Amino acid sequence: MADRTGTITAALAGTIDIGGDLPVNRFGFGAMRITGEGIWGEPADREECKRVLLRAVALGINFIDTADSYGPEVSERLIAETLHPYPEDLVIATKGGLNRPGPGVWEPDGRPEHLRAACEGSLKRLRVEQIDVYQFHRPDPKVPFEESVGALVELKAEGKIRHIGLSNVTTDEVERAQKLTPIVSVQNRYSLFERDSEPVLEFCSLEEMAFLPWRPVAGGNLGASAVVEEIARRNHATPSQVALAWLLAHSPVMLPIPGTSKVEHLEENLGAVALGLAPADLAELDKIAPEPRG
Ligand SMILES: NC(=O)c1ccc[n+]([C@@H]2O[C@H](COP(=O)([O-])OP(=O)(O)OC[C@H]3O[C@@H](n4cnc5c(N)ncnc54)[C@H](OP(=O)(O)O)[C@@H]3O)[C@@H](O)[C@H]2O)c1
Repeated sequence: MADRTGTITAALAGTIDIGGDLPVNRFGFGAMRITGEGIWGEPADREECKRVLLRAVALGINFIDTADSYGPEVSERLIAETLHPYPEDLVIATKGGLNRPGPGVWEPDGRPEHLRAACEGSLKRLRVEQIDVYQFHRPDPKVPFEESVGALVELKAEGKIRHIGLSNVTTDEVERAQKLTPIVSVQNRYSLFERDSEPVLEFCSLEEMAFLPWRPVAGGNLGASAVVEEIARRNHATPSQVALAWLLAHSPVMLPIPGTSKVEHLEENLGAVALGLAPADLAELDKIAPEPRG
């Protein structure tokens, strides 16, 4: 297995300017996995999760994605406990809009009153006066989309949110939100194997909005692809490094946020920033048939 950490830092991925005033390295950290099984409760190894956060920052990662619903509350608390007072350049993006009745269960709640309470809770747990990027986690079919986004517009006007992002949305929804407020980022499920959001990614590229692909290393199950395995072998790399290097090469607005609860996996994944895949390898990866999602 290639060890590409050494002196490698996230800066090698280049930067992206979120909202025009928050420049971050184009390789972030997804903090959903620093929680218990079913994204519920405390993680099995809390100290290791704290080491993951510290190592991420030490390696130049200055964009962390989290949500009130991770744990719930556990991820945000652990981030603050470990990293507060935060480094000047660290951007924390959190989300609201889901309820968690139990492990593995996620229910949309886009009511304005819920979003307001969720945002207030995140401000307290993250120990900040303003959230850098607040993302609407998922449209709620029971609540008009404009009402949910409208709640975030109000929170922004009050100074509680600096920038607004969306998650799990279509291009049409992004355009509808843009009629109400500037949108700085979109976070959708996307990887080598899941490209339903390609049109949304293209739209983000045109609008110069960051695109945060979630589940970028397919939940750690990349070894199942013979093509990825072979390209990894040829490049003395690992399948997750290949998947992340492909994402970085695929679009300049791509900001991957792989998640892990282990320092070893964090370091391995970051090695992707030093992996310059040849055009032939990238073309082969482009052709991997994405799995259609029902
Ligand atoms: N907006 C949304 O609706 C939404 C939904 C899901 C996730 N997200 C965000 O996206 C981030 C990433 O998504 P994700 O965590 O679901 O998927 P992911 O990053 O593709 O995969 C993470 C999983 O893969 C394992 N893993 C990571 N690196 C590995 C490696 N090098 N070797 C082997 N296993 C590895 C991790 O286990 P270990 O802990 O054992 O390393 C973890 O279980 C989340 O942390 C969260 O911030 C957003």
